[in-house]
Amino acid sequence: MKSFNPPSRTLMGPGPSDVHPRILNAMAKTTIGHLDPAFIDMMDEIKEMLQYAFMTENALTMPISAPGSAGMEACFVNLVEPGDKVIVCINGVFGSRMKENVTRIGGQAIIIEDDWGAPVSPQKLEQCLTENPDTKIVAFVHAETSTGALSDAKLLCEDCQ
Ligand SMILES: Cc1ncc(COP(=O)(O)O)c(C=O)c1O
Repeated sequence: MKSFNPPSRTLMGPGPSDVHPRILNAMAKTTIGHLDPAFIDMMDEIKEMLQYAFMTENALTMPISAPGSAGMEACFVNLVEPGDKVIVCINGVFGSRMKENVTRIGGQAIIIEDDWGAPVSPQKLEQCLTENPDTKIVAFVHAETSTGALSDAKLLCEDCQ
């Protein structure tokens, strides 16, 4: 992996983001096929760098070449099976989209609602988990980009333990 020095605190915003000229130049180059050994090496390197960025050693850390919505859908279709109980926290547009994903797969969505612009309430989640001990998955949007609301992922994850 090439060495790189990220800033001490990296924030990921929703964009739209300016594309660095280095990237624009790279995109103007000749393409290579997805089975080319050079592509495989590049993909391995990207996966390693993503693991670094997301502070994980999970070997299944990979980029999805699609809009964010496809990333969300990829998570749900791989985790939810028909009949599964999924608590979905809604405090903006993307929470509602998660509910849509769950119901289309045939999961049973249990909804916790918070005001748009407010973070997801850890107290409501704790109570909902007590009332639904057979819950398989809890879904919340960490940074609800439709309003800019940031929820406390650490607290919400602690509720689930
Ligand atoms: C919180 C949040 N912001 C932004 C997006 C961007 O969506 P897209 O790139 O599909 O427009 C998503 C997609 O799921 C999202 O969950």
